[in-house]
Amino acid sequence: MTDASEATRYLVEHAHYTEDLALWRTVAEHVDGPVLDVGCAAGRLALELARDGCRVVALDADPTMLRALAVNAAQAGPDVGGRVTTMCADMRTFSLDGPVALAIAAMNTLQVLLTPVDQLACLGRIRASLAPEGEFWFDVSMPDLGDVQSSIGVVHGGEVVDDPTRGVRLAHAFWYEWVDPITQTARFTHRIDETAADGAVRAFFRHHEVHLFTPLELGHLLARAGFDVLHVWGDFEGAPLEAGAERQVYRCRVVS
Ligand SMILES: C[S@@+](CC[C@H](N)C(=O)[O-])C[C@H]1O[C@@H](n2cnc3c(N)ncnc32)[C@H](O)[C@@H]1O
Repeated sequence: MTDASEATRYLVEHAHYTEDLALWRTVAEHVDGPVLDVGCAAGRLALELARDGCRVVALDADPTMLRALAVNAAQAGPDVGGRVTTMCADMRTFSLDGPVALAIAAMNTLQVLLTPVDQLACLGRIRASLAPEGEFWFDVSMPDLGDVQSSIGVVHGGEVVDDPTRGVRLAHAFWYEWVDPITQTARFTHRIDETAADGAVRAFFRHHEVHLFTPLELGHLLARAGFDVLHVWGDFEGAPLEAGAERQVYRCRVVS
């Protein structure tokens, strides 16, 4: 479980990451009924869809994240907040009250599941939640295992973004600490340096352990879980998945 301050800061620390949102908003636009946001965290996607008028079931196993989501939803106003239903549940075992026409697992969510058993369990629950013709969309990173192995400890500088509402600047960086080439599990640290107007700097560290999926592996997993893959893209604009791509974006439907 994250601590309360990390959950509270989640939206601030991810405010710069918006490249996926246009796709998810388009995909959700004409969906009848609620959208399932799998691993919703503090509501980066759920709130965006709710602002568009979608109803969202926001599922996460971390009650601290869901409390932060509730605060963020309340701040967004009663119309937006009223469209979001939070669900504290494990994505490997959950059941919904009724089927949904769209499930989304955004921003690497499936990568938190480190074993094929857990990954298949989660895909099976998502499949069971979908209405006939319902769709499951998700994205994960497109790793280069060789690059990851050879860059252990090397700091990669990331975005530097101003947060005018709080008068601070956020500088992102990350580095891999460890990778197991057999299980494809990697541990990395995300560091955020927050500089206030008076020059004072506070550093925040987020530690993550993730599975690095290859496209072939995901193809097999999805087939075993009973999904047809309708599209696989290398970005959120529909570019083909090929060498150099940084993401894998999947559109799936239950095998009929
Ligand atoms: C990469 S973050 C989610 C990012 C989020 N989907 C977004 O787009 O901003 C992964 C989330 O999965 C949640 N999580 C991890 N294991 C879980 C599990 N077994 N069941 C449900 N949620 C889980 C974490 O609490 C975390 O909020």
